[in-house]
Amino acid sequence: MKTHLLKIPLLLASAAFIFISAKSFKEVKGLKDYYKKYFPMGVAVRPSELSSEESKLILNEFSSITPENAMKMGPIHPREDRYFWRDADTIVNFAVRNKLKVRGHTLCWHAQTPNWLFIDSTGNNVSKDVLLQRLKSHINTVVSRYKGKIYAWDVVNEAIADGPEFLRKTKWTEIAGEEFIEKAFEYAHAADPNAVLFYNDYNTEIPAKRDKIFKLLKGLKDKGVPVHGVGLQAHWSISTPTREELEKSIEMFSSLGLQVQFTELDISVYSGRQGGQLIQGQQQPQQQKSVFTAEMEQQQLEKYKMVFDVFRKYKKNVTGVTFWNVSDKYTWLDGRGRKNFPLLFDQELKPKKAYWEVVKF
Ligand code: G3I
Repeated sequence: MKTHLLKIPLLLASAAFIFISAKSFKEVKGLKDYYKKYFPMGVAVRPSELSSEESKLILNEFSSITPENAMKMGPIHPREDRYFWRDADTIVNFAVRNKLKVRGHTLCWHAQTPNWLFIDSTGNNVSKDVLLQRLKSHINTVVSRYKGKIYAWDVVNEAIADGPEFLRKTKWTEIAGEEFIEKAFEYAHAADPNAVLFYNDYNTEIPAKRDKIFKLLKGLKDKGVPVHGVGLQAHWSISTPTREELEKSIEMFSSLGLQVQFTELDISVYSGRQGGQLIQGQQQPQQQKSVFTAEMEQQQLEKYKMVFDVFRKYKKNVTGVTFWNVSDKYTWLDGRGRKNFPLLFDQELKPKKAYWEVVKF
C-alpha cells in the first residue's frame, strides 16, 4: 500500500510535464486560425520548401497548398509516353500527411506546355481530334492519380486575351478553336466528379478583361459545362485594384453561381498591373531600387488591409485565398534587375506589418 501512495506525486508530475511540453510545442495562431470561420488560407509551394524551414511556417499558417509548377503540363508530362510524378507526389503526400487541402494547378495552359502535344511525327500540327484526345488522356491520367486528394483544379488557365481579341491566340485555339476549354472541363469532371473545377486568370479587375471572362464563363454555364468556380489570381500591386473594382469582380462572377477564389495573391511594392511587372526591356525607373522602403511598406499594408476587408465582406462567395509563394525570400516577381517584397512574410520568414493588418479584425 505504502509504495502505491508514493507513486501518486510521480504520476502527477509526469502528467504535468507532458501537458506543459505539449502546450509549448503548440505553435502561435496562424492565418488559417484567424480565418477559420471565413475560408481556407493557402500558399503555392515548391517541393524543396516542404523539407526546409518554410515547412513549419506553411503548416502553422496555411490549410491549403498549390504546386507552383509541379503539376503543369510540361513539368509533369514532358513527353507523350513519359510522366514525371516525383515533385507532384511530394507535394500531395505532404498534404495528405498533414491533412492539408490541395488545389491542382493547372491542367491546360499555353505556358509551360510541351510542344509534343501539338505536333505529329513530321513536325506538323496534329488535327483537332488528336489534340483533344491527347488533352483528354493527360487530364484523365493526372486527375485520376490524385482523385480524393485534390479538392479543386485550375482546369484552364489564362485563355482570355489581354488585348482587344476575345481569346488569347495559342496553339490550343489555332488547332482546336474555343472548344478546347469546355472539353477540358468535361474531361476533368469525368475523371473526378467530386473535384471543384475552376477557370483561372489574372487582371480580372480590369473591366474590359473582366467582361470577356464573364462572357466566357456565362457561355460555359449556359451550355451546362461543369465549371464550378473562377480563380482570380490577384497578382496585384500597391496601386491596384481599387476597392470598387474588386467588389465588382466578386459580385459579377458570383452572379453566375460560381465560387470565387483568390488563387495567386501577392501585392507588388512597385505600382502597376500584374504585380507591377516590368515590360520586357522596360528600364527600371530610377527610384525603384530593390529596397523595401517604409513608404512601400505603408502602401502595401493599406492594400492588404483593404483586400482582406473585402474578402471577409464577401465570405459567402469567397471559398479560398491562396498566396503565390511563401515569403519575400523567393517570389516569382523577382528578376529583371530588381527584388520584390510582395508577401506577408519577410526574407527571414517573419510576419511583416501587413500580416498584422490582415489578422486584426
Ligand atoms: O525547372 C527548370 C529548371 O530545370 C531550369 O534549370 C530553370 C532555368 O531555365 O528553369 C526551370 O523552370 C522554371 C520554372 O519556373 C521552375 O522554376 C521556368 O524557367 C520558369 O519560367 C518557371 O516560372 C514559373 C512561371 O509561372 C512560368 O510561367 C514561376 O515559377 C511560377 O511562379 C509562375 O506561376 C504563374 C502561374 O502558374 C499562373 N499565373 C501566373 C503565375 C506567375 O507567372
